[in-house]
Amino acid sequence: MNSESQLDETAETSEGTVTREVPAPAVPSESAEVDHPTALCLANFNAWYGDFQALHRVTLNVPECQVTAFIGPSGCGKSTLLRWANRMNDNIPTARANGTMTLRGVDVLSRQMDVVDLRRRVGMVFQKPNPFPKSIYDNVAFGPRLHLKITRSDLDDLVEWSLKKAAVWNEVKDRLRKPALGLSGGQQQRLCIARAIAVGPEVMLMDEPCSALDPASTASIEDLIHELKKQYTIVIVTHNMQQAARVSDQTAFFFEGRVIEAGPTTGIFTRPENKQTEDYVSGKFG
Ligand SMILES: Nc1ncnc2c1ncn2[C@@H]1O[C@H](COP(=O)(O)OP(=O)(O)O)[C@@H](O)[C@H]1O
Ligand SMILES: [Mg+2]
Repeated sequence: MNSESQLDETAETSEGTVTREVPAPAVPSESAEVDHPTALCLANFNAWYGDFQALHRVTLNVPECQVTAFIGPSGCGKSTLLRWANRMNDNIPTARANGTMTLRGVDVLSRQMDVVDLRRRVGMVFQKPNPFPKSIYDNVAFGPRLHLKITRSDLDDLVEWSLKKAAVWNEVKDRLRKPALGLSGGQQQRLCIARAIAVGPEVMLMDEPCSALDPASTASIEDLIHELKKQYTIVIVTHNMQQAARVSDQTAFFFEGRVIEAGPTTGIFTRPENKQTEDYVSGKFG
């Protein structure tokens, strides 16, 4: 099976598998739409692993240059959604999806989509920092070498710029040729962010980026997220409600493969419309 053929673009819908009504997610107000146009747009998006449906009719707008938090208990489909947004699920033979997922209007699920280019535009940072077993410099230079025709001195500048953007330059500037795996966990995570930034992404997907980090490193990543959203659209999955409240502008609450409620973070945390959302954000389950 080639990587494209797992996509399900047939007329199959989830109608047959949806068994109960769910409330429609909040739609961002018009003024939010003007200030922050939609970067990633999902409408009636469904995803499966084999016969198991992991996401049901997800409708959600991720606004540009904002931080959107995905919250919800384990197994409710948050990572599945992120993985579809840069087509990482192409590597899972049983994974398929239908419905709408667009990045600035371009169909992410299309068989014609250039997946390498998509992954440049949509960067990903994982729970466990995953630097390549290479030098600090080579980690950041990896993507630009792959994607850009670039001179040696421009590459040096880009590596420095990316490490500065990721707020790790001062800690690594004297050891750029040393192995990345020698850095602390928090430094490795910021290096991975620098590696993603170096190829000029539009969207940064962060899947529990702080859950393997100590409080000081977590604080530095949160500060960094504040800085990065001036330029990038950020989606962060977090199980830490305080973190979601601190870093995000929008929050989407996932439960059993559905987006139960989405909207401005303050509203979700202080005046949730849905009982399940309220129970989750107040720590009654999850
Ligand atoms: N590769 C896979 N094959 C089969 N099922 C999977 C796979 N990855 C995830 N799932 C299932 O899909 C559901 C959603 O998983 P996931 O998106 O990882 O949830 P979350 O990130 O919210 O914890 C879970 O029931 C999980 O077991
Ligand atoms: Mg996950």
